[in-house]
Amino acid sequence: MISKVFIVGAGQMGLDIGQVMAKAGKKVTFRDMTDEILAKSMAKLNKGLDKQVAKGKMDEDTKAAILANISTTTELAPAADADLVLEAIVENVEIKKTLFKELDGICKPECIFATNTSSISITQIAAATNRADKFIGMHFFNPATVMKLVEVIRGLHTSDETFKTVYDLSAEIGKDPIEVKEGPGFVVNRILIPMINEAIMVLEEGLASAEDIDKAMKLGCNHPMGPLALADLIGLDTCLHIMDVFYAETCDSKYRAARLLRQMVRGGKLGRKTGVGFFDYTK
Ligand code: NAI
Repeated sequence: MISKVFIVGAGQMGLDIGQVMAKAGKKVTFRDMTDEILAKSMAKLNKGLDKQVAKGKMDEDTKAAILANISTTTELAPAADADLVLEAIVENVEIKKTLFKELDGICKPECIFATNTSSISITQIAAATNRADKFIGMHFFNPATVMKLVEVIRGLHTSDETFKTVYDLSAEIGKDPIEVKEGPGFVVNRILIPMINEAIMVLEEGLASAEDIDKAMKLGCNHPMGPLALADLIGLDTCLHIMDVFYAETCDSKYRAARLLRQMVRGGKLGRKTGVGFFDYTK
């Protein structure tokens, strides 16, 4: 049974995941680098809850119950009695490994370690610990308060017991999990990012305009959003990074990043976050 959850990284993903866990009755502790970051994150969480209350989507009692389940810290020591540690820090393998190595010495032996990584090998991070059987990928989608999917990813050594606990937990907190064996990009990004890359190649070849490529996939495949607008939303740097990981892991030329994608990243056109990508967001 998972009742105490220690979330490392109260950023975009960690904060939403923590909120989902707290709403499901779990005791959640957020750990981030400074009190300032934590104060900002908690203000954001509060604001989000207030909005839901104002819209009539949540009552005051639920909001109070969520907040009562949450605490914050800048230390790792309070992870000692956690049943689950969920990591959602920067996407850097060395930083993640250092963190888990330290946690391995702090947490109780039965504590499960989960990472929300979108591209790094679960087995590789698990190797920094002495509990690879209790190490697993728990990949949420953005925004985690809304998106139903969780990819529950087995590393090489993940035990069936660990898998079942995390899979059941995902369902318990109101998500709809799938089982995935480890492989670059897992399921969603493995299919999605090469599709986006292909759309960029179609644009680069001058076969259709950006507007028409997106229109084609919306009207022809019933996608809610076109691939180029989606690339702008995800961030072109992130899309490129993921393509490069696929290529590095497989040496398969089908994962060659579009030249235009690389050029746009080099030129600082990263999508919504810089105001310009395939579409202009400055107006
Ligand atoms: P973010 O940059 O919004 O948040 C990361 C947080 O971790 C920051 O608040 C930072 O201060 C904190 N942090 C960094 N090192 C730390 C440490 N050693 N201890 C405690 N806190 C630390 O990043 P975001 O977008 O939430 O991504 C986090 C993870 O989730 C990454 O592995 C990313 O690949 C993955 N992910 C991201 C998605 C997205 O759409 N942004 C979707 C699914 C997974």
